[in-house]
Amino acid sequence: MKLNRVIRADCIKWLEGREPFADLIFADPPFNIGYKYDVYEDSKAYDEYHAWTERWMAVCREVLNPTGSFWIAIGDDYAAEVRLIGNKLGLHLRNWVIWHYTFGQQTTMKFARSHTHLLYFVKDPKCFTFHDKAVRTFSDRQREYNDKRANPAGKLPDDTWVEFPRLCGTFAERTGHPCQMPETVLDRIVLVSSNPGDVVFDPFAGSGTTLASAKKLSRQYVGTELSEAYVESIRERLEEVTPIAELGPTPHGRWSPEHIRQLQALYMTAAVSTETLYSKPALLASLTAMFNWRIAHSGCAETYTAKEIWAKLEHLRKQACLGRIRVHADESPVGPARPMPKVPKMPKMPKMPKMPKAPKAPKVANVANVPNLFE
Ligand SMILES: C[S@@+](CC[C@H](N)C(=O)[O-])C[C@H]1O[C@@H](n2cnc3c(N)ncnc32)[C@H](O)[C@@H]1O
Repeated sequence: MKLNRVIRADCIKWLEGREPFADLIFADPPFNIGYKYDVYEDSKAYDEYHAWTERWMAVCREVLNPTGSFWIAIGDDYAAEVRLIGNKLGLHLRNWVIWHYTFGQQTTMKFARSHTHLLYFVKDPKCFTFHDKAVRTFSDRQREYNDKRANPAGKLPDDTWVEFPRLCGTFAERTGHPCQMPETVLDRIVLVSSNPGDVVFDPFAGSGTTLASAKKLSRQYVGTELSEAYVESIRERLEEVTPIAELGPTPHGRWSPEHIRQLQALYMTAAVSTETLYSKPALLASLTAMFNWRIAHSGCAETYTAKEIWAKLEHLRKQACLGRIRVHADESPVGPARPMPKVPKMPKMPKMPKMPKAPKAPKVANVANVPNLFE
């Protein structure tokens, strides 16, 4: 089969009758919540959407290699259905990951949605690819407690992923597709669930995030997408991606932009400030090992020293290119007392409308006269 391409096609029609070819499938279908896509109509009746989900999941399962992994992104409304269809197809659920992000949109009558479900299935529960070292992060024992028992190699992230913000309209990564996922989320999935050279397939390629991540991390890729316009834009996006492995040895002190992006991503997920890395050299050593594992799993033969990592982080910090750590912000608990900041005056609250009086409670029979049925 011809690999490393995106095809304008209906995924079901394109997949039907094919032999297994995919080592990893990442599917992010339309969630049936009325999103505006180029050609797809995203508000179907429940039964129609359910039947369609069964069909595309079944054909994806058919093309998954025996040791393959199948990740599905889905919203609240159909997460349970996807899990049950997975069961029916004989897939094994390994994790039900919640990707949590904060969302700018305000709600007044219910809590704002701020997560997506990532269901992680495998075909064979005993034989699958899982590279824990490629995605490790700091444990609390390392980060917070300075505990000597901490594993210097860090720990696997939990199944709630809070470290990847949604792509805002202003982010440079944005392509204009209405539902583009951040590459950082896909990088974690591709790194942990496939090997360099494996085939990654995305039936709903959208803006091409999965394919871009796969190409960057030296995997082969195939995607299908219904919209001709999206396919064009994916092709343009993929042309800009160079596999990390092909970037070649960087002369001392000169980093390729993709290695810098990987370091920035690791810094964000490790969630330890440069101040802490400076004061805890063991953490810097672990971060260096994590970075080297990460790029080794992208097919890159190069390794970096702690000194090089530190110098690059400092350089990025000075240029304000490190981003804001969202979780475990490690502000030092000691230090000089700080004066109370000036708090702005609160705007006057509008007058509350008068609440209607609660209706009088009906007369209740004297409990003493009610027979005790429990005796
Ligand atoms: C939620 S978006 C995928 C976004 C993608 N994960 C990304 O990060 O850019 C779903 C995409 O599926 C496409 N689509 C809908 N039905 C399809 C089908 N039957 N075959 C292929 N693509 C389809 C839509 O055009 C849309 O671009």
